[in-house]
Amino acid sequence: MQQIRPRILCVDDEVKNLALLSAVLMPEGYEVIEAKNGEEALIRIRTEQIDLVLLDVMMPGMDGLVVCKEIKGDAKYRNIPVVMITALAATADRVKSIEAGAEDFISKPFDQVEVLARINMLLKVKELNDKLNCAYNNIISLTNFGEKLIETFSPREFDFMRQIDNLVGQILKQTSHVADKPKTVLVRILNNKNIYNWYRYELLFDTLERLPFQINLEITLPPAVNSRLRFYSEAEMENPLFKPFIEKLKGYLVLVKNMVCYVSNNLSVFALNYDREVSGYDAAVLNSVVMQTLFLRSLSLQINATENAFEYTVKALARASEVNDEDTGKHVVRVGFYCSMLAKKMGMPDTFMRSVRINALLHDVGKIHTPPEILRKSSPLTPEETKVMQQHTIHGPKIIGDHPRLKIGSSIAGCHHERWDGSGYPHGLKGEQIPIEGRIMNIADQYDALRNTRGYKPGFDHLTTVKIITEGDGRTMPQHFEPQVLDAFVEVAPKFDELYERLKG
Ligand SMILES: [Fe+2]
Ligand SMILES: [Fe+2]
Repeated sequence: MQQIRPRILCVDDEVKNLALLSAVLMPEGYEVIEAKNGEEALIRIRTEQIDLVLLDVMMPGMDGLVVCKEIKGDAKYRNIPVVMITALAATADRVKSIEAGAEDFISKPFDQVEVLARINMLLKVKELNDKLNCAYNNIISLTNFGEKLIETFSPREFDFMRQIDNLVGQILKQTSHVADKPKTVLVRILNNKNIYNWYRYELLFDTLERLPFQINLEITLPPAVNSRLRFYSEAEMENPLFKPFIEKLKGYLVLVKNMVCYVSNNLSVFALNYDREVSGYDAAVLNSVVMQTLFLRSLSLQINATENAFEYTVKALARASEVNDEDTGKHVVRVGFYCSMLAKKMGMPDTFMRSVRINALLHDVGKIHTPPEILRKSSPLTPEETKVMQQHTIHGPKIIGDHPRLKIGSSIAGCHHERWDGSGYPHGLKGEQIPIEGRIMNIADQYDALRNTRGYKPGFDHLTTVKIITEGDGRTMPQHFEPQVLDAFVEVAPKFDELYERLKG
C-alpha cells in the first residue's frame, strides 16, 4: 500500500526558519506545508488535511499563542498536535504555551534529533487518538442506526432490499474521517429463484446510488473468502488467489486496493478501497451492521410465519363455526376485508386495520351452539327461534375468551348485531356504548348478508344493497348505523362490490 506521508504545517514569519524545518522534515518522509503568519496557518488548517503543526510563538499580527488557542478551541481541529517553537526560555512563557493548549514546545535554536523524536511521538499519539475517535464515532453512529432500525421496524412490512440500502448507507456515509470508509460497496443477495443478484453502491454527491451489477463474481472468490468475515490489506490482495476476482472487477473499472467483506449464503457485502490500511476494526463495523440486518430479517420471517399460523387457526375456527350455516368461509373473509377498508377510510391506525380484519373472521363463532335446523331454516324464524339464534352473540365471546390478541374478536362477536339507535341485540346498546369495531362490523356484515342469497330471500345486487343500507327498507334502516361509519361505507362501497365479485361463493 502506498504510504500516506504525514503532513506537517510549519508556521513561521521568517523564511529561513521555514526552509530549515523543511530541510529537516522532508528527508524523513514528511510532507511540509508552509504558512508565513497566523491567518494563513488557520486557512491551511481549515482547508487541508494537517497532521501536526509546528508553530512559532513570536509572529507579527496574530501570534502563535492566539493561533494555538484558535485551533484548540475548534472541536474539528483540536486533535491536531501543536508544537510551539519558542525563543523564550522563561518558565512563565512555557506555561503560556501549555495554557494555550499546545502539546509540546521546542526552544530555538532547536536540535534536529529532538524535533524529529517529538514529532514522531506526537504523531503516534495522534494516530491512536484518531483510531479511538473513529471507534467512538462509529459506535455512536451504529447505536443510532440500530435504534432507528428498531424504532421503524415493522415485521409485516420488512423490506430486505431497503434494509440493505440502509446498511450500505451506514457504511458509506460514516461521518468520521473520509479515509475510514470504503469507496465502493458490492452486495450479493440470493434471490427467491436461487440466483445471485449483485449490486454496486457508491456515494454520488452525498446520495447513495445502487446499481444492478451484472457480474458473476462468486466463481472468482478465493475459497478462503467464503468463510464469513474477512479483511484484506493491499499486500494480502496481491495473493494470486485474488487474481480472478481483481481481474474480473477491473473489467468493470473497479480497481481493488483493499477489501473488508462479509460472506454468507444469503447476503454478502464487499466494502472496497478504504483510503488507509484496513483492519479487524473495519471488519467488526461491517459485521455489526450486517448482523443487525440479518437478525431483523430473520425476526421478520419468524414473526410472519407465526402471524400466518395465527391467522390460519382463526380461519379454521371460523370455518368450524359455519359448518351448519348457509354462509361459506368466504363470507367471513369478505367481511374481514370490508372492516379493514372502513377502518382505513376512517383513518384508524394500520394495526387496528389488520387486527379488525383477522378478528372479524370470528364474528359468528357463537353459532357453533345454534341448532342446525334453525341455521338452515328456509323460512323466516319464529320469535322463539329468533331468540335462540340471537344467543350466538352471547356464546361467541365465551368461546373466544379473553386473550389480548383476540380482544377485538371477542368484542365483535358480542356486539356485531347492536345498532346505533339502540334497537339491536343482545344488550340494546346505543351510540358510543357500542365499541367501534362492533359499529364497523355491523355495516360490513349487513352489506354481505344482503348480497347473499338465503333460503328465505334472494341476493341483492350492489346498488340495491347500498340503497337499502343508506335509505332503509323497513328491516334495515340507516339509523342502525353510526353516521360516520355510514359515510365511510358510502365512499368505499364500490370497493365492497369489487371484493364481493372477486371472492364470491
Ligand atoms: Fe351474527
Ligand atoms: Fe356474518
